Amino acid sequence: MALTTFITGGTRGIGHALACRLLARGHNVVVTGTTASGVARAEHALAEACGDPGRVLALSCDVRDRSAVGLAVQTAMARFGGLDVLVNNAGVGVGQPIAVLSHDEWDRIIDTNLTGMFNVCRAVIPHLEARGSGWIINISSLSSKNPFAGGAAYCASKAAVNAFSEALMQELRPSNIRVSYVLPGSVATGFSGRDSDEGSDWRLQPDDVAQVIENLLDHPARSLPSRVEIRPARTR
Ligand SMILES: NC(=O)c1ccc[n+]([C@@H]2O[C@H](COP(=O)([O-])OP(=O)(O)OC[C@H]3O[C@@H](n4cnc5c(N)ncnc54)[C@H](OP(=O)(O)O)[C@@H]3O)[C@@H](O)[C@H]2O)c1
Repeated sequence: MALTTFITGGTRGIGHALACRLLARGHNVVVTGTTASGVARAEHALAEACGDPGRVLALSCDVRDRSAVGLAVQTAMARFGGLDVLVNNAGVGVGQPIAVLSHDEWDRIIDTNLTGMFNVCRAVIPHLEARGSGWIINISSLSSKNPFAGGAAYCASKAAVNAFSEALMQELRPSNIRVSYVLPGSVATGFSGRDSDEGSDWRLQPDDVAQVIENLLDHPARSLPSRVEIRPARTR
């Protein structure tokens, strides 16, 4: 039976590249985003790319909204009969120096990158535990270990993702649920409002990160690569 993967923030960037790869290897794929037009566009593009609209589900769901998350997970389960892989990819950044960062912007970054991950894990883990297997892959960032001025909220949120993932990995190992987290360096996407072409001569491409995630899924059941770093091969 085809595996089903739920990717938060899969309407563009890294999540979308991963959705393309996993559809090509036969998964059912669920992607989410907050923008209705982006969700519709992604559903159309992914269905076209794989030639089988029945394996694609795109949902409007803000990971900060725990009831919307619960509904999205239920909808995905009803459509595909279960979930096998969760990729917590939705994320925002980067912000401003703390002295001038608004409280709203602080909340947006922490609530999306950290609490959003908790909301989705909380909704999905009972299903994985009931099935007795699964994989959760959290997208962190090299910024989590290389903080920079002007990025305190983002870097702190991603450092928290690392700690969250390490603890979750230990909690779920006895249940045969694997937890990994991936720390990409700079990727050529429209992240944080930048132009996705900017720096595309040296930055990673979204598909490079997607390849790492797909490779994780090829590991035998006895193996758990729990933390993976990927960076551009050369500096800018
Ligand atoms: N790009 C980089 O250089 C880089 C480096 C290291 C780590 N990362 C991490 O990689 C992940 C993906 O980044 P990306 O570069 O692919 O970003 P992106 O191109 O901006 O895509 C972000 C995706 O997340 C969705 N999203 C944003 N807020 C959301 C929310 N509250 N609820 C649900 N979906 C939400 C967006 O859809 P809507 O706009 O419709 O909400 C979009 O599909 C993030 O966690 C980011 O921190 C990125």
